[in-house]
Amino acid sequence: MRILSVVGTRPQLIKAAALSPVLRARHDEILVDTGQHYDDALAGTFYRELGLPAPDHGLGVGGGTHAEQTAAMLTGLESILEIHRPDAVLVYGDTNSTLAGALVAAKAGVPLAHVEAGLRSFDRRMPEEINRVVADHLARWLFAPTPTAVANLRDEGITRGVVLVGDLMQDLAARVGREVATDRALAAASRWLAGGTQGATLSPGGYLFATVHRAENRQPAALRAWTGLLERVARPDRPVILAIHPGTRLALEREGVALAPDVRLVEPQGYRTSLTLQMHAAAVVTDSGGVQREAAWLGAPCLVLRETTEWLEAVDDSAGRMVIVGHDGDLAERVLAELAPPDGAAALARDRAARFDLAPAGAADAIAATLEAAE
Ligand code: UD1
Ligand code: UDP
Repeated sequence: MRILSVVGTRPQLIKAAALSPVLRARHDEILVDTGQHYDDALAGTFYRELGLPAPDHGLGVGGGTHAEQTAAMLTGLESILEIHRPDAVLVYGDTNSTLAGALVAAKAGVPLAHVEAGLRSFDRRMPEEINRVVADHLARWLFAPTPTAVANLRDEGITRGVVLVGDLMQDLAARVGREVATDRALAAASRWLAGGTQGATLSPGGYLFATVHRAENRQPAALRAWTGLLERVARPDRPVILAIHPGTRLALEREGVALAPDVRLVEPQGYRTSLTLQMHAAAVVTDSGGVQREAAWLGAPCLVLRETTEWLEAVDDSAGRMVIVGHDGDLAERVLAELAPPDGAAALARDRAARFDLAPAGAADAIAATLEAAE
């Protein structure tokens, strides 16, 4: 089958790195990068690090309002579809690149495959919720990562084309997680970070790893709330390493929000470093969907800086290690005192890394095989 895959953001490059080699063993793939993410730290670095093939087309869309961004993607993708006339268009997740790929495929009458179908926050104020609902209702193949996602689709009357394949990101985390479970990997990441302007010497369980990028967390009141929370949980002997998305950095600067000294800002990191820092942290603090699941697979305590999550299984299966804290600083402190106490966090982190044994979900194989069966 000739499949045109659309990517554009950091997590989509990571997911494509997990699927693309498997897809290419059985199908012809044309890779299109919308350029929604354009900084090297959010885009180029993942091509190099994860061996993702160079895109056949780059749209160079960049930033803008949702309408500007999506409109530019629609026009660009439409002409590429006309050139290649693929048998299927494949989109990942819930970004504006997902939405554009889905709409263009549907209008051109090309069957759509949606990877990570069926996730719902039931909050239409989130741009992602709109994007994923549209993609799911247009898709011919809906590759669901979890049983909850399948149930969500059923509740919306979608059963045809739904396949529970597991989580594609687990396939990659299983492989790379094994490589970064050593003290040596943390020492290398620590040296790498110390080479930047913000020095940091990291020991197992001796820091918190944080990422924040959701649109709702870039609103002024929310910015103050989560930076306040980080300030409360950061200590000189347990700094917060905040790998900052450039959009969040901009929002902090615009609002003049300063970070406490023990909250150390670092650039967005590569995939391997991100996994390393999660693996050996006392705990992970994040609003990212991808980081939430990775923390769960690595067994790291995880505080979710949101009011809700699409990844209910990650919370349910975490044995209390994943907690939705929103912006509640009291709750964050209580959870950390329990899950990563000062006198136990190092041993817990060491033990977790030593025991790491995550099986791949097999999602990439299941997706490639389903598409092959449809030929
Ligand atoms: C997007 C997705 C979000 C996903 C996230 C993954 C949408 C609506 N949002 O959010 O679902 O979780 O990617 O990381 O599709 N910027 C840069 N350099 C870049 C990219 C962005 O500086 O390379 C800044 C710009 O100021 C831009 C802002 O970040 O305006 C937001 O970027 P955008 O791509 O619109 O959304 P993300 O917040 O990255
Ligand atoms: N990630 C990364 N470097 C970072 C922060 C995150 O490589 O500095 C990875 C993370 O390990 C996960 C993915 O990016 O694999 C998650 O993407 P992101 O948080 O941008 O988006 P979301 O998953 O919320 O859509």
